[in-house]
Amino acid sequence: MDHVYDRANEDLGNIVHLEHVNLRVPDQRLATLYYVSGLGLTRDPYLMTGVGNMWVNVGRSQFHLPVGGAQLLRGHVAIVLPSRAGLLRRLAAVRRDLEGTRFAVQEHEEYVEATCPWGNRIRCYEPQDRFGPVALGMPVVSCDVPPGSAEAIARFYREILGAPATMDDRGGPIARVSVGIGQEMVFHETDRPIPPYDGHHIQIYLAGFSGPHRRLQERGLVTEGSDQHQYRFREIIDPASGRPLFTLEHEVRSMRHPLYARPLVNRNPDLSAANYAPGHEALAWSLAPMTGTDL
Ligand SMILES: [Fe+2]
Repeated sequence: MDHVYDRANEDLGNIVHLEHVNLRVPDQRLATLYYVSGLGLTRDPYLMTGVGNMWVNVGRSQFHLPVGGAQLLRGHVAIVLPSRAGLLRRLAAVRRDLEGTRFAVQEHEEYVEATCPWGNRIRCYEPQDRFGPVALGMPVVSCDVPPGSAEAIARFYREILGAPATMDDRGGPIARVSVGIGQEMVFHETDRPIPPYDGHHIQIYLAGFSGPHRRLQERGLVTEGSDQHQYRFREIIDPASGRPLFTLEHEVRSMRHPLYARPLVNRNPDLSAANYAPGHEALAWSLAPMTGTDL
């Protein structure tokens, strides 16, 4: 009875996980208020624990927030959080301390857009089918790209990186690149001016590591040969013509990188000293199992 399964749905492609988005922040205190107290995320307790950098966990992904001049993603990051009501409560509680910054909260039907003190837009969704059984995670990094670039961007990811990439015409030409289970990078064409690139980066893990490296190297696109397990590139080009399309540094790691699939600590942000209940400190990144008489 093998025909009942669509085996193609299991294909993942060469990018197996989008792990982090790296954005410099000028002030770690304000970043803590926004990412940890406001969004309810968890500071990594094991790595980057000083005042010069912090890693903030979102399920199996992270924000990396080194201290420095503010960097802005040219688009937005979508994250999944368990409860919209809880999120709105936490964001309201940090509003006063973030006065005078670019911090803002906008409620939309599908998501809450929370803008960080320096202008990065994070769209917060509740768990839903299209993200898979995820209670806490980073399903989408979305970039605004110039007119006439999305289709060639999709070809770049298909041909150079080996990632499935499709075009979506709903709301303008959009390239959707699979970057992990339930994770996408989205490239959305816009007529609005795109700010200059300021050096922020994203990080991905590849199953086949050397092929993309060879193809990037042949085109002179590798910008850093970090170590055995990692390299970087920052130009997305049309693979046919070499025309530059969009700049975004990619930190590219193999699955043999020691940090691959590192278990990340996630806390339950609804727990406080006032309502503390033993054993409820941790939050699972996945949704709770289904229960009921049918199972
Ligand atoms: Fe990084």
